[in-house]
Amino acid sequence: MFTNKLSKLLTKLLRTQPKYITASVSPASAAPDLMLPPDRLPAHVAIIMDGNGRWAQQRGLPRSAGHAAGTEALRDIIRASDDWGVQALSLYAFSTENWARSKDEVNALMGLLLKYFNSEIDELDEKNVCIRILGDVDGLPEPQRDAVNRAMERTRDNTGLKLNIALNYGGHAELIRAAQALAVKVVAGEMKPEEITNEAFEAELYTAGLPPVDLLIRTSGEVRTSNFLPWQTAYAEMIFDPVLWPDYDRAHYLKNLREYAARDRRFGGVKSAETEPTKETTEGSN
Ligand code: IPE
Ligand code: IPE
Ligand code: MG
Repeated sequence: MFTNKLSKLLTKLLRTQPKYITASVSPASAAPDLMLPPDRLPAHVAIIMDGNGRWAQQRGLPRSAGHAAGTEALRDIIRASDDWGVQALSLYAFSTENWARSKDEVNALMGLLLKYFNSEIDELDEKNVCIRILGDVDGLPEPQRDAVNRAMERTRDNTGLKLNIALNYGGHAELIRAAQALAVKVVAGEMKPEEITNEAFEAELYTAGLPPVDLLIRTSGEVRTSNFLPWQTAYAEMIFDPVLWPDYDRAHYLKNLREYAARDRRFGGVKSAETEPTKETTEGSN
């Protein structure tokens, strides 16, 4: 217990001292040109882990084998996020639409989910990771529901990486849920319609309290977001990487983070090096 607390404290202290990421992925990664300044690291990374089925198909294996291989990639990317000081990582593991798959595939995915939580929870807790499920937990089968609820409860006060796993998650459902929660408050007289602000809306989302998504990565080459975090990714940079999820590793992740670091995020403004808006342009826009 004491060792656990001590290691959490150490993790916390280390995380407050951001370092240049040299990422121990290969000898080449230690080269100075692979360094990533901490202020160019996304605070919140979201990943659509896609391509497990195609990975298995290419090998003549059942789709479930692709999902099993995908959990290995998942382990590596969670560890890398923790090592590199990413604040929040949101992973799309099972969508509300994925129930449409065959019973066998859904069962395989649910089985892996249980296995994953049982085998990883000690290490994640040890690393001070705080687990949150995004999605309708009550709609999961009982063993999975219990496992994820226990994991959330156990890691609730952890102050390290915020690991969000989207399970039985749908973006539209999340927005409707938020709208309904606010409507209930208005009807009960607890708030006025004009008090429905960005902040009030965000507070009703599964991601309440987290920074917006800075970088959304989707593997497998599909160029769509498939109902993942529509509100939170409104201003996210997006990278669609052709690699299939089971083949995704730290080296791919680092390459994606470097691409992100090189992008110019303007949020509707102009490049920081360019001029401030002049009086004339401000007046002209009226
Ligand atoms: C992503 O891989 C995992 C889940 C959706 C659960 P897929 O199973 O969608 O793999 P492809 O897209 O069929 O290759
Ligand atoms: C998105 O992948 C869901 C997850 C990765 C969990 P899908 O494979 O289900 O998405 P579509 O059907 O290709 O849009
Ligand atoms: Mg897919």
